[in-house]
Amino acid sequence: MRKSIIVLSFALAAAACTPKAVSPQDKLTAHDEDINAIIAQMSLEEKVEMLHSKTNMSSEGVPRLGIQDIKYADGPFGIREEGVPNGFQSAGWITDSATYFPTGSALAATWSKDLAYKYGVGIGTEARKRGKDIILGPAINIQRLPVGGRTYEYLSEDPVLTAELAVGYTKGVQDAGIAACVKHFALNNQEMNRGSVNVICDERTMREIYLKAFEAAVKEGGAMAIMPAYNKVGGNYCSENEYLLNEILRGEWGFKGLTVSDWGGTHSTMGAALHGLDVQMTGDTYLGPALIDSVKAGKIPESIVDDKVREILRVRYAVEAIPADKCNTETASQKESRETAYEVATKSVVLLKNNGNILPVKKDVKKIAVIGRNAEALTQSGGMGAGVKSVYEVTPLEGLRKNAPAGVEITYAPAYKDYLGMFAMWKDPEYLSQHPEIAAEIDEPADPDLLAEAVAVAKDADLVLYFFGTNKSIETEGSDRIDIKLPVDQERIAAAIAEVNSNIVGVMISGGPCELAEIDKYASALVQGWWNGLEGGNALAKILYGEIAPSGKLPFTFPAKLEDSPAYALDNYPQKADVEGDLFGNQYRQDIQGQKKRPTGLVRYPATAYYSEGSLVGYRWYDTKEIPVMFAFGHGLSYVDFEYSDIKAKKGKDIVTVSFNLTNKGKMDADEVAQLYVHRIDATVEWPYKELKAFGRISLKAGETRIVTLAVPVDEIRYWDENMNDWNLEHGSLEILVGSSSDDIRLKANIVI
Ligand code: BGC
Repeated sequence: MRKSIIVLSFALAAAACTPKAVSPQDKLTAHDEDINAIIAQMSLEEKVEMLHSKTNMSSEGVPRLGIQDIKYADGPFGIREEGVPNGFQSAGWITDSATYFPTGSALAATWSKDLAYKYGVGIGTEARKRGKDIILGPAINIQRLPVGGRTYEYLSEDPVLTAELAVGYTKGVQDAGIAACVKHFALNNQEMNRGSVNVICDERTMREIYLKAFEAAVKEGGAMAIMPAYNKVGGNYCSENEYLLNEILRGEWGFKGLTVSDWGGTHSTMGAALHGLDVQMTGDTYLGPALIDSVKAGKIPESIVDDKVREILRVRYAVEAIPADKCNTETASQKESRETAYEVATKSVVLLKNNGNILPVKKDVKKIAVIGRNAEALTQSGGMGAGVKSVYEVTPLEGLRKNAPAGVEITYAPAYKDYLGMFAMWKDPEYLSQHPEIAAEIDEPADPDLLAEAVAVAKDADLVLYFFGTNKSIETEGSDRIDIKLPVDQERIAAAIAEVNSNIVGVMISGGPCELAEIDKYASALVQGWWNGLEGGNALAKILYGEIAPSGKLPFTFPAKLEDSPAYALDNYPQKADVEGDLFGNQYRQDIQGQKKRPTGLVRYPATAYYSEGSLVGYRWYDTKEIPVMFAFGHGLSYVDFEYSDIKAKKGKDIVTVSFNLTNKGKMDADEVAQLYVHRIDATVEWPYKELKAFGRISLKAGETRIVTLAVPVDEIRYWDENMNDWNLEHGSLEILVGSSSDDIRLKANIVI
């Protein structure tokens, strides 16, 4: 077969490093003259009215001058249902059913900037149907902790993968005519104590790991809005952090849009006003009457207020306000979005292992036992904030039934109940009596009746598909998991099933990693199925039945055990603090759960998170310290084998170009995600053993060979030099490692910088 050539360039924010590059941010200033003329006509009171919430999800325009309010909508994996004006309770609308897209970690498992773009377009289009101006997404914090409560919303443990996807998502959203609000800026890498924790991180790590994707989303993606995080960095709340907001974001990156605090995350008038916050969400305690007083008292120059109004109006000008009679006239969910959600889901499922090629399901399998409540659990909402009232949701069980080959019978046993996690603290007898399905605790032993039923169903089948994993009450905003062990005795259930049936495929439904060593003993194949959107069940079924080859790759490491992970190994997490509840959780509890009592005195002494692992986050740690893992970053098998050959690496003036042949040796069409890592041979500064620098998703027909070219800008090989306080290029030899995963390197080449 003739070889075709595919060139996958990798630009990232490298252009950012070239001082004269025109930034997409500059588009925002196109109307500054008009905007200044408007500001000149406004009273101080009118201006300050724009700097805080009007309702829970809007801020004021300038009614006297015909300038519309700004309407916000929660993402990041679908537009959240409409809430009542002053809280998060459902407004009870019928037109706000949206598309539930695969959550962040599932999107990231596609390793596809193109899909992230389509995803952004989809979510942006639906937000416009709802009359919204700003989507609170993408959520792009680095997954520093395996237990992180919002791992499922976030993308990856790697900054390059996160940056590429964040840029795709942001551009997609904004091409749909709405602003993306990239969150949570910055270093919001834990939920525990998120409202008060002070992050101490060295400058190099901050730049290379934690700020990289934000920088790319601003400079390359042109993000029009940024949400400062709840936590502190270097002693100052992110919502009043001069260094992050004024020096880096605006000063260095040239951000021209608006900043809006996370909900409840504004802490003072002087701090917020002087150090970079434009909009207080929610309430007006700080950027309301107190700000007017401070200006009148001469403590804050009115020009600072003008700067904020200007930044808000830039976004208002860039995003056309939708008249009330032109939106919310039909269901928000769009066919194209649902197709994108399906496509993402088909490319995100990760085949972790496949002993004896037990998958795809063989032709002689006539009876499949689907076991485990996660096969039928809905995942569109829960987890506190992010969530979607989805038009529908095809569960794995439904997908398997609907797509079953002729003559295949599906039986089902739930095996375990739904279970409480963080929400356990909210349980009250009345709530639980209305939700009998949520009756188990995380560590509750298997229910003997459910277990006996599961064993009987398993015994009678040719193949068992065992669905295990977590749910959205243990992986949730507002708290981290206590550990990454499988809940509700899921391991013992697997062992019991294995006694009666040795053909077990384990499918994990979760947003983040779990310890899998025990399950691994019983299952011949393991699949990571994610919280995969409204079409997730169809996508999974088509993969398990062999219509589509799996092609997802892990965007984070599955450690062998939690204690191996860097923050745990170095005793940096969990930090000791005296906490009485989550900042936002308490508000939510009141709004959503209807509980009347709000705890007072949230944190008596706050925690400090020392990021002393430096840049050794995720695989950078395990690789460098040679710690074996369960499944490595970038890992994901297919139903075909791919052959990598004939690498050529060339260093040009600005770009390192690496090409190689990639062949699909199998009998079906399949995608491969080729990954390029850099290892420093004679480094004079410290580096992780290797770092991802480029990647590409390549579709190959059965038997097809392509020449794949991956390009890495030389600027992307630089490090943050703390002495120079700038990016610096270290000269020396580099080993280019190309492979199918971070632990499956197939080709090597050397270059000299
Ligand atoms: C979350 C944000 C979210 C906001 C509004 C906060 O608790 O951290 O991600 O956008 O609530 O719902």
